[in-house]
Amino acid sequence: MSSLIKISPSILSADFSKLGAEVISLEKAGADYIHIDVMDGHFVPNLTIGPEVIKKLRPLTKKVFDVHLMISPVDNFIKDYANAGADIITFHPEATKDTSKTIELIKKENKKVGISLKPKSSIDLIKDHLSEIDLVLIMSVEPGFGGQKFMPEVLEKTKKLKEIIKSKGFNIDIEIDGGINFENCSLAKQAGANILVSGSTIFKENKGDLKKNIEILRKN
Ligand code: DX5
Ligand code: ZN
Repeated sequence: MSSLIKISPSILSADFSKLGAEVISLEKAGADYIHIDVMDGHFVPNLTIGPEVIKKLRPLTKKVFDVHLMISPVDNFIKDYANAGADIITFHPEATKDTSKTIELIKKENKKVGISLKPKSSIDLIKDHLSEIDLVLIMSVEPGFGGQKFMPEVLEKTKKLKEIIKSKGFNIDIEIDGGINFENCSLAKQAGANILVSGSTIFKENKGDLKKNIEILRKN
């Protein structure tokens, strides 16, 4: 099972003064994806990374850029993040008037489509779209900041989602994001998540030994 687990380190916890070097270090340390948290100070109370930054990082690695858009309205920015080099574009259903239209916009750019559910957002918001998407991102903290505490109540939702996906035979990744550490990562995997996002644990544990921290998250 663990060999199927992908680790997507969030560069929100990286040193922004040397972001390029940090991305290269993550690749060397064995990251599968690079998780890029995009915040607009409106959908969430924090501001982070614009498309120009992603464009500059793009030539440094071939790793999948897993772009988590926490911006509203999201539609106006999809083309910019696609052109900047995103591979997976994930949005929140609350950030669009028309979920199907947003999915179409991402597909038109030939990018993989993810939909994210905040801790209190129900599976009902996405269940009619499961045949159209590649990934569901389950938030295990309120979106906006790194370093928050994991909310175990989302594990039930993860299990339920996994059951639905399995029973319908869809090929959809389940990614979990927020407060993932060396203890709760196994619970997330057991619940059905196959991609783990982690910022603080990867960048801060074991004096920032990225390789070791990625390995532990993968194995535990
Ligand atoms: C929160 C972000 C997460 C977060 C993860 O809005 O989506 O990706 O940065 O960081 P940790 O692992 O520190 O919770
Ligand atoms: Zn994220």
